[in-house]
Amino acid sequence: MGILDGRVAVITGAGGGLGREHALLFAAEGAKVVVNDLTGAKDVVEEIEQAGGKAVAVEGSVAEMSVGEELISTAVDAFGDLHVVVNNAGVIRDAMLWNMTEDQFDTVTSVHLKGAFSVASPAARYWRAQSKKGETTDRSLINTSSGSGVYGNAGQWNYSAAKAGLAIQAVVGAAELGRYGARANAICPVARTTPVIATPGLGEAVRAPENPDEFDRYHPKHIAPLVSYLASAGCPFTGQAFTVYGGHVGLLTGWAHGHAIDAEFQWTPQQLAEEMGADSFPKSIPVNRNRIKRVGAA
Ligand SMILES: NC(=O)c1ccc[n+]([C@@H]2O[C@H](COP(=O)([O-])OP(=O)(O)OC[C@H]3O[C@@H](n4cnc5c(N)ncnc54)[C@H](O)[C@@H]3O)[C@@H](O)[C@H]2O)c1
Repeated sequence: MGILDGRVAVITGAGGGLGREHALLFAAEGAKVVVNDLTGAKDVVEEIEQAGGKAVAVEGSVAEMSVGEELISTAVDAFGDLHVVVNNAGVIRDAMLWNMTEDQFDTVTSVHLKGAFSVASPAARYWRAQSKKGETTDRSLINTSSGSGVYGNAGQWNYSAAKAGLAIQAVVGAAELGRYGARANAICPVARTTPVIATPGLGEAVRAPENPDEFDRYHPKHIAPLVSYLASAGCPFTGQAFTVYGGHVGLLTGWAHGHAIDAEFQWTPQQLAEEMGADSFPKSIPVNRNRIKRVGAA
């Protein structure tokens, strides 16, 4: 018995990296999986089938609306239903703002933002139609955001914006889809995958420990258990974003109202300069470091 027995899932960008790990664990936990990627999806399907699981491949770009539609119809045609969408496909095209080209901006926003829309919108239509037919059951949308989307990162004007969008879509998705039994959440992972290894400064930070007995905190397989739990029918979470790496899972609290001034008149710029310039008005917001509950080695 797996936590995903009877569930049907679509996972984008699952030919490699985190998505492949998600697909393998989903299948091992009993889900039937539609594996999407530009290439490599068929290999992952083969791996799943060799291990006794069920999966089908759909190769194509999620930036195309027709591929999003195809992913949803394939799930329903091949496996009879659709319970889970994991929007995981991604690319990076880093550059400082003054060097970023239109192509770098468009490529990143179309794969992440439009790519999530192309899959989530037909999924939402299907879930709504099923619910109207009286087939309301737990459904789950999981968007892959990033620390870059919730904290911001220099050199990623395009990627930070796209990933912020994917995080807030967990809130919007929860608000819109809840009436049809669907939940929406986002994850902000950190793991040693090809684009991370290639990023100056990051590759070194996520390297595998020299001692094989040491916990390999940044192995990409550590993200899939949280994604599997969020995908499972008994999971209560919706509208949330989580940080996840190694043995860490953290709930993000997002933008929050800070210090404020209120008046029953229109401020002049000079009055605002005085009020907001005063020492009582904080000039920067300290990073919110919530306490993390540490659990010993398994
Ligand atoms: N690894 C990390 O530390 C990290 C951190 C934050 C966010 N993320 C996000 O996690 C997701 C997975 O990234 P990863 O680290 O495994 O990188 P990766 O490059 O190994 O995996 C991304 C996959 O998406 C596929 N892909 C790219 N464009 C596509 C398209 N148009 N249609 C379908 N598939 C497409 C790629 O072929 C690739 O297999 C991405 O959304 C990434 O932005 C990763």
